[in-house]
Amino acid sequence: MNSQLQIRTEPLSRNPHLLRWVEKITRLTQPAAIHWVDGSQEEFDALCDEMVTHGTLTRLNQQLWPGCFYARSDPSDVQRLEDRTFICSYSREAAGPNNNWAEPYEMRRHLRRLYDGCMRGRTMYVLPFSMGPLRSPFSHIGVQLTDSPYVVASLRTMARIGLDVFREIDRNEKRVVPCLHSVGAPLAPGQKDVPWPCNAEKYILHFPESREIWSYGSAYGGNALLEKKCLGLRIASVLGRDHGWLAEHMLILGVEDPHGEKTYVAAAFPSACGKTNFAMMIPPQALAGWKVTTVGDDIAWMRADETGQLRGINPETGFFGVAPGTSAATNPNAMATMTRNTIFTNVALTPEGGVWWEGMTPEPPPECLDWRGERWTPQIGLQTGRPAAHPNSRFTAPVSQCPSVDPQWEAPGGVPISAIIFGGRRASVMPLVYQAFNWTAGVYVGATMGSETTAAAAGEVGRVRRDPMAMRPFCGYHMGDYFRHWIQMQRRFSVSPKIFHVNWFRKDAQGQFLWPGFSENMRVLKWIVERVQGRSLALETPIGWMPRYDDMSWEGLDFSRGRFEELQSVDRAAWRREVLAHEELFIDLHDRLPPEMIYERELLICRL
Ligand code: OXD
Ligand code: MN
Repeated sequence: MNSQLQIRTEPLSRNPHLLRWVEKITRLTQPAAIHWVDGSQEEFDALCDEMVTHGTLTRLNQQLWPGCFYARSDPSDVQRLEDRTFICSYSREAAGPNNNWAEPYEMRRHLRRLYDGCMRGRTMYVLPFSMGPLRSPFSHIGVQLTDSPYVVASLRTMARIGLDVFREIDRNEKRVVPCLHSVGAPLAPGQKDVPWPCNAEKYILHFPESREIWSYGSAYGGNALLEKKCLGLRIASVLGRDHGWLAEHMLILGVEDPHGEKTYVAAAFPSACGKTNFAMMIPPQALAGWKVTTVGDDIAWMRADETGQLRGINPETGFFGVAPGTSAATNPNAMATMTRNTIFTNVALTPEGGVWWEGMTPEPPPECLDWRGERWTPQIGLQTGRPAAHPNSRFTAPVSQCPSVDPQWEAPGGVPISAIIFGGRRASVMPLVYQAFNWTAGVYVGATMGSETTAAAAGEVGRVRRDPMAMRPFCGYHMGDYFRHWIQMQRRFSVSPKIFHVNWFRKDAQGQFLWPGFSENMRVLKWIVERVQGRSLALETPIGWMPRYDDMSWEGLDFSRGRFEELQSVDRAAWRREVLAHEELFIDLHDRLPPEMIYERELLICRL
């Protein structure tokens, strides 16, 4: 039984700025209709029904996957496009060498030409969203004007949307971040639509001074769900700099010890380093009584409260997780989260109306349709080398469905953050875990964080790419100023959060991973939490404080003292080379680098 969307042309807000902006964009983009999004279930159902009719969505087998849909994107629109992402600040200097900069007036002129009539034949949705719980001091509101119903449906999972947000806008306390989005595919009268409209020319623009976002040509992920990377990180990082808080590419998790004491930590790892898995970790059985709870897996907004305690929220309400590699073995909580009310994009479709991706089960299904809609069998996969699911295929699922969700995940005042963890993928040099000596030394650790490129990426394998705080593609301003902001944050704390660095990926001489990872990472997390609580010991080394073998818990894991020492070894010669390699970052940022970074580097060199 298909329902049809009742178009609501009547505005749901009385805010004069919003109304004027909607009018202006309507004149520019010339949509066939305007719909003010109320966020209701009926509206969502009707939108999905229409998308099923147009072929954008496939309803999955509702017995197996209740409330779940499947989308296949255009093969040219499958990932975030960093080279099409621009920071359009007034000066190039403000964007820094870490960003693509474009002259704002020129960009606006060019984009206005592209937006001219770009929504013809389509409905423009007025989609209000709140990052963070409504009325929380952490929260920020955006309104996305979009001609993509897929974006509207996805955002209903990823953020708080609809009527309540319009009400909050009308209370007129908070400024709205205007987010304009078009797939850039106008329809001529009578022209048949395609399942995934988009444009070969794509732009993702940020105007940090006026806090605006303009996106054109893509309907995929961070290019189109403007709440996420665009507002949640690039614009929010600028807001955080100006107002004394932090918008970070971090997960937040809670650790409950056997006495019920709770400690929250935030952690930044670059893409493809297991943030979602870490956020939803299930401790090994041998560590009875320890429990991990999930607040968020991608973005943390953090500020000091009136007592000087750092507190953080996950501004999103959904996970937009990478599907390949996710399984009942690697992340049972993620698998349970996506059993219902989930939109899968670019995974494979099985004949029984289910989904599959590489790594989901040990055996692939005998047959399926791949992410391009072509017949795929394990044999075809072997012959062509083509995966069934796109490597960047995704699940969009509600945080509330996660079995490990933290009871405080929507607390308007956030959760207290006692530790910050940085990490990367490093086959050598970096030990399993160490603790920075203090806040500024910890900022240096985060600033110089790197991750090795894998065989999948172009360029040499194993080359370390510096990805400061995992924010390289997401910091909306000059990275040198960003480090300064981090250093200055300490003034707001009564007790600074402890800072740690982890590396799950160190290899031995034979090229084998030294550390089993996944749920065994709980042993490292336990040491970290006990350090925060002042209950565990550590050894002072040139790079920081490190656990000795006897400072960690080994129940239920056969891991020898010798292997641990190999895993934790600090090779001074390799470390000297490492510190020299930090030069790359220092040269790039030299004119805006806070002096504290230079001192920390000098201190580290002296200790080595
Ligand atoms: C993401 C990313 O999609 O970091 O979260 O690329
Ligand atoms: Mn991310």
